[in-house]
Amino acid sequence: MDAIPSYLDRAHLGPWEVFLEQVDRVAPHLGDLGYWIETLKHPKRILIVDIPVKMDDGSIRHFEGYRVHHNTSRGPGKGGVRYHQDVTLSEVMALAGWMTIKNAVIGLPFGGAKGGVRVDPRTLTRGELERLTRRYTSEIGVLIGPDKDIPAPDVNTNEQIMAWMMDTYSINQGRTVMGVVTGKPVSLGGSLGRREATGRGVFIVGRSAACKLGLDLAGARVAIQGYGNVGATAARCFAATGAKIVALQDVTGSIHAGDGIDLDALQRWLDGGGALGRFPGATAIANEDFWTVEADILVPAALEGQIDRHNARDIKARLVLEGANGPTTPEADDILTSRGVTLVPDVLTNAGGVTVSYFEWVQDFSSFFWTEQEINERLERILSEAFESVWKAAQEHRVTLRTAAYLLACRRVLEARQLRGIYP
Ligand SMILES: NC(=O)c1ccc[n+]([C@@H]2O[C@H](COP(=O)([O-])OP(=O)(O)OC[C@H]3O[C@@H](n4cnc5c(N)ncnc54)[C@H](O)[C@@H]3O)[C@@H](O)[C@H]2O)c1
Repeated sequence: MDAIPSYLDRAHLGPWEVFLEQVDRVAPHLGDLGYWIETLKHPKRILIVDIPVKMDDGSIRHFEGYRVHHNTSRGPGKGGVRYHQDVTLSEVMALAGWMTIKNAVIGLPFGGAKGGVRVDPRTLTRGELERLTRRYTSEIGVLIGPDKDIPAPDVNTNEQIMAWMMDTYSINQGRTVMGVVTGKPVSLGGSLGRREATGRGVFIVGRSAACKLGLDLAGARVAIQGYGNVGATAARCFAATGAKIVALQDVTGSIHAGDGIDLDALQRWLDGGGALGRFPGATAIANEDFWTVEADILVPAALEGQIDRHNARDIKARLVLEGANGPTTPEADDILTSRGVTLVPDVLTNAGGVTVSYFEWVQDFSSFFWTEQEINERLERILSEAFESVWKAAQEHRVTLRTAAYLLACRRVLEARQLRGIYP
């Protein structure tokens, strides 16, 4: 069956093509459930919205926004909102698909969704950003809700944006609806530990993987692309166990220090307005050289499509932990596998964020809040168990960890699809 919808450009399918290929790779392992596989290749619903914003200078600018429900067989949609000038529908579709898989791998009672706005938020004032966020929330209001679809932060969105989204939705509903978004400030029904959850999860999963490989984290060399919410937290967790952060890259450039970068000094530099790429405590290197630094662990934690056929052959790390969503192309996946590099896929590695988002959603429903220790213990248990199941499935079926994760997830999603049946 032709899975390419008419609204995408066949010549430039973008990240959605990567998702389709990942689904195709698991299809032969699904047995009778393969009957339902097309379900995963067709997003359930897509909303494209126009967001007019009155700018501070009195002019009006229009921004394009999306919200995609990929699959809701296992529960309401769940997935972040990305603000980026290059966001495309294909990208948001793929990100929504990855959320379906991620929620199912972890066993959370959610389907997959994602949203995005084509905007570079750094070019907006705070007032413009608030108006954009409120109008976007209002426009996608028909799709979201605590039992329908629950957005959360992603690239370039944060707790403040979630607070504006919650407030806008609540005003339109005429009552306060805490559970409509997660990743909110703690004072507005957010959860302790949510901000650090994704990076912490990268570390928890990475530690389990390192243990399987006999790789001692004390003294291990770690390179991280992206020093935002995910990358910076993961860096701190690895450093706290004695690993050395030998290379970092963000939009401002790449830096290297064979003995390890002093993260406290870096933070002081960033807090003072310095750019990571110009941090005086490390050596600036070319962005392409970042991928080939001598390291044991590589953590892509920025955007998709970063590890491709051009750099996959030269990566020195034994272990790749996908902190970002979709950072590795299928071609690069094959190259890394053939070179014996262990790659732990995004749908497992970065699932800590949505796991604590799930805790936040549950806490909001009962208005009863857990301690940070409870949050972190539950996070640790859920991710460690999920890692063990994926590792076991990979051994049993002799497939990569990505295909093993898809195998477990697709079975759960398609079983739900089969039990619910097709209406009418
Ligand atoms: N925040 C979460 O809870 C969460 C959860 C799951 C997955 N993710 C994924 O993790 C990734 C990072 O998200 P985040 O929340 O940390 O975003 P963020 O906006 O906090 O940070 C993004 C980082 O990536 C860097 N970056 C952006 N473009 C780059 C480029 N072209 N080259 C090098 N560096 C670049 C930025 O400078 C920044 O340091 C994304 O793929 C996101 O989908 C985030």
